[in-house]
Amino acid sequence: MGYVGLVTGVCLAHLGHDIVCMDLDAAKIRALRDGRIPIYEPGLDKLVGDNIAKLSFTTSYDELLTRCRVLFIAVDTPPTASGDADLSRVRRVVDEIAAHGGERVLVMKSTVPVGTGEHVTADLEAAGLPGIGYVSNPEFLREGAAIEDFLAPDRIVIGAFREEDGDEVEALYRGVDAPVVRTSVPTAEMIKYASNAFLSTKISFINEIANVCEAVGADVREVARGMGLDHRIGGHFLQAGIGFGGSCFPKDVQALKQLAGNSGYHFQLLTAVIEVNHLQKRRVIGKLKEHVGSLRGKKVALLGLTFKPHTDDLREASSIVLAARLQGEGAKVSAYDPMVPGPEHEQFRGVTICAEPLEAVRGADAVVLVTEWPEFSRLDWDAVLAAMRRPLVVDGRNFLDAGALARAGFTYEGVGVPAVRVPSADAVQAKQG
Ligand code: UGA
Repeated sequence: MGYVGLVTGVCLAHLGHDIVCMDLDAAKIRALRDGRIPIYEPGLDKLVGDNIAKLSFTTSYDELLTRCRVLFIAVDTPPTASGDADLSRVRRVVDEIAAHGGERVLVMKSTVPVGTGEHVTADLEAAGLPGIGYVSNPEFLREGAAIEDFLAPDRIVIGAFREEDGDEVEALYRGVDAPVVRTSVPTAEMIKYASNAFLSTKISFINEIANVCEAVGADVREVARGMGLDHRIGGHFLQAGIGFGGSCFPKDVQALKQLAGNSGYHFQLLTAVIEVNHLQKRRVIGKLKEHVGSLRGKKVALLGLTFKPHTDDLREASSIVLAARLQGEGAKVSAYDPMVPGPEHEQFRGVTICAEPLEAVRGADAVVLVTEWPEFSRLDWDAVLAAMRRPLVVDGRNFLDAGALARAGFTYEGVGVPAVRVPSADAVQAKQG
């Protein structure tokens, strides 16, 4: 019942199916039974409410396996120390299901290395359980837009060993208008990795273009628009910024690189995609130093901490690296995020997380916009200016109105866009005076 499982269960209930939602975490199941949604995903609470008659929640494998034939697996597959995907949770679920036997269809929603379906099926057959079929049905949900992505997807991918298992899963999506790609299990597994790796590549590519734009005086936003209008390129995922985060892209790119390596192939391009993404977060430090010199003793306020807006997810968020790097440089770091209550958080040791943006920016030498939460474009920037020690904004997402900020008296730095500087010496003196 994480981001993928809960959304999948609730959306399948919305399509008319009876759904049993299972998780080992009793607190989570209790919350769901009480009508509380354990994650923040826009629209999910309403969809649960609308479909509550078709949903039930349990921690019991017995209940699940007595009532259900088709079983969607949506456990996480975090990276191991070697960069491979950790399949221990997947294995535990498969073992539990195998112990109950019966005629079933396992549907893999978790992102698993290519070959996993074949291994699981071989193990089930070796255990004398040929009645359990296996279907790879990767998910392409973006957090923050997951319901829309489930109910109006670009495609549904179904890889099956037995035709009839694929048919059964395809039938569950009746009512969803999207092309269905029917394929083999390894191919379906690869489509998932290749899609995430390609999108990550697009982001690292535009981030490198942004870095060159900074050096030559071009504007990456216009470059991305000019490129994206070419249908062969497409305009999506060409937003330059301080790098991609989240529970999927960083881990999946790493896992695909690792998978290729394990099979004897060095995936050079992905090595660069990963490195560019690491370096992109650190470029903010250089920009800050350019304006304020050494960061020792300086105060930097981070606006936004989640890996993107409209989620409460902090996994692999750029803010975590940035906050640690800033503290490594000797800066004091404060932060505000609408989804991260403070004043402390284990992922952000030493960072003061404030309840209001104005509190976070008080006395700051610079503000760094890390996550493009809509409320930041509506901030009272005059009040921010009055509260800060220096009028410097580094916009890690090219989200704010640079012209308006400059008119308000800020020096503005985006990513791959021309910096807008107020006569900074005057502005600093005016503020310090
Ligand atoms: C991503 C994919 O978009 C989904 O299709 C996929 O199902 C999911 O991973 C997964 O594998 O489970 P998600 O991680 O929720 O979804 O978020 P995205 O909207 O893809 O954003 C990922 C990161 O890329 C964010 O940090 C975002 O800020 C960054 N990004 C995105 C950019 O820096 N520039 C862009 O143009 C787009």
